[in-house]
Amino acid sequence: MELSGARVLVVGATGVLGGLTARALVEQGARVVVTGRDAERLTDVATVTGHDPITLDVVDVEACAAAVDAAAATLGGLDGIVVATGVPAFGPAMETDPAVAEELFAVNTLGPMALVRAASRHLDGGFVAVLSAILADLPTNQMAEYSASKSALSAWLGVVRRENRRRFHVIDVRPPHLDTGLSDRGLAGTPPRLPEPLAGSVVVDRLLDAIRGDASEVVWDATAKELVVR
Ligand SMILES: NC(=O)c1ccc[n+]([C@@H]2O[C@H](COP(=O)([O-])OP(=O)(O)OC[C@H]3O[C@@H](n4cnc5c(N)ncnc54)[C@H](OP(=O)(O)O)[C@@H]3O)[C@@H](O)[C@H]2O)c1
Repeated sequence: MELSGARVLVVGATGVLGGLTARALVEQGARVVVTGRDAERLTDVATVTGHDPITLDVVDVEACAAAVDAAAATLGGLDGIVVATGVPAFGPAMETDPAVAEELFAVNTLGPMALVRAASRHLDGGFVAVLSAILADLPTNQMAEYSASKSALSAWLGVVRRENRRRFHVIDVRPPHLDTGLSDRGLAGTPPRLPEPLAGSVVVDRLLDAIRGDASEVVWDATAKELVVR
């Protein structure tokens, strides 16, 4: 898809990857509406996009649908949505507080699903791009619930892709550990030893490549040690 002139909603633009993506899309000539929770960072990124931002907690699935509709109204339609919200938690699976597990699934799985569902009603062609994670393929010790929430999201996206292959493109972005500081913002616990992080900017570059090329996935190739678009 051509990025210049594309009307895109970026959810979670207060985060590192969401913010970089919103800015990169604007640089490519896209028209962008952003959402987030943190008021200061949301105002900051909205000065770049030039459209009124939307405050959104993705745990509220009705608010997710309303945010998508509001963005479509602002932009006069929607050609794509990028969902970059997410939160981890750490610790042994048998010790996880059920309230933490519930919030992880609300933020990482159910919220993105509600957003994609709402966006699909506006898309005629175009794309949905969602950040899941490498943990969807490689569930990891001390991160059972985070892995499971991303695996569920990734599985759901695969079915959405097959069911809607003539309507819009579904891009599942599954990066490895990144330098965005996400592991310092976990809902609970202490992160285990993690591999050397990849630069978040690389993910954003590949994500834009995937949108331009109507690709399905951005994934880590462990042999080539690089992020590939396919
Ligand atoms: N960093 C990594 O190592 C890595 C690796 C693989 C996949 N990912 C995925 O990439 C995505 C972006 O991560 P990031 O590294 O850019 O982290 P980040 O900077 O912490 O961004 C996380 C975003 O999620 C938002 N968020 C969290 N809980 C929310 C809620 N209840 N409602 C609405 N927004 C909520 C945050 O909003 P506020 O800041 O406004 O609260 C922020 O915009 C996530 O889905 C993450 O799981 C990251």
